[in-house]
Amino acid sequence: MTVATTATEATPTAATTTATATATEATASVGLDERIRRNPGAHRVLTGDRPTGPLHLGHYFGTLQNRVRLQRLGVEMFVVIADYQVITDRDIADRLAEHAENLVLDYLATGLDPDRATIFAHSAVPALNQLLLPFLSLVSVSELGRNPTVKDEIAHSRQSAVSGLMFTYPVHQAADILFCKADVVPVGQDQLPHLEVARTVARRFNERYPHPDGAAVFPRPEGLLSAAPLLLGTDGTKMSKSRGNAVALAADEDTTARLIRSARTDTERRISYDPVARPEVSSLVLLAALCQDRRPEEVAEEIGDGGAAALKRTVIEAVNEHLRPVRARRAELAADRGYVRQVLRDGAERAKAVADATLDEVRAVMGSV
Ligand code: TRP
Repeated sequence: MTVATTATEATPTAATTTATATATEATASVGLDERIRRNPGAHRVLTGDRPTGPLHLGHYFGTLQNRVRLQRLGVEMFVVIADYQVITDRDIADRLAEHAENLVLDYLATGLDPDRATIFAHSAVPALNQLLLPFLSLVSVSELGRNPTVKDEIAHSRQSAVSGLMFTYPVHQAADILFCKADVVPVGQDQLPHLEVARTVARRFNERYPHPDGAAVFPRPEGLLSAAPLLLGTDGTKMSKSRGNAVALAADEDTTARLIRSARTDTERRISYDPVARPEVSSLVLLAALCQDRRPEEVAEEIGDGGAAALKRTVIEAVNEHLRPVRARRAELAADRGYVRQVLRDGAERAKAVADATLDEVRAVMGSV
């Protein structure tokens, strides 16, 4: 059997791969969310972040709130702090432990419950990482090179040479997902190609190493696309940890005000909600609307001819107001680093038990034991 491409698989270009994957996953998401709500106990979610810096408002409205929603529904959840992924495109993983602990604080402050969600760093779970070896054997070098998200990251990389880990990290991410047999992965658009890798790895593994009793070792995880619209950073481009254009969840109220006051707008005085024609103004309107749980059109209407200054005053007030309890809780938790470290240790223990069991199963079907 050849690994690279089997007869049943088309080999579309990177662009069409993303487009098709996006379309199918988007429609699938509607059904998936419904299925989760109907039977939350039948699903397991894996999601995660790289520990590279504080989470910001884009994360909060894009993913953190959704995680808490899934938790409240009663879905079992694993949250990976992807520390090995940090060194895909930088020589040193700077302040890794500190960033990891800050992620935990962001999670807990938003409402993740460490008794229900397993929060762990993947470097602390050896069996998870060992899955990478059989998984890599199932993927061809040219497939790795075609991944559109990886290509994009290479284009924006701060390194002159591309590391091997950069090419293989989507497979590592497949291990993050499959070690705990998660069947649901909340994702943004940019992560869909990675989810395809995880699905491909799961399918090929199951085909190559059938279970004696006919059951498949791995589920084929589905992407749950976030319904939250994209927030722009203060410079009008995508809000991002690395671009210095984001309002951190943990920022104080003055910093929040300063950042929002510096946000780009346009010269039209009348405020409207028109994401296509007026992306910067609309993103600010949307931010206020998300904080106040209102429709953006309503927020824009209310500001009317007040211009950018009035808009920004509204947004600053809305953000600081909305985040006040989250930030207060975060500050409280941050005072007890021992507790935060304990959360990570407990999470790693639970993740280890699950990873060991999966690796045992993998080794058994592969005939390694
Ligand atoms: N790549 C993700 C990010 O940059 C983090 C991540 C690592 C992840 N492993 C994952 C996300 C598995 C979903 C599933 O934010």
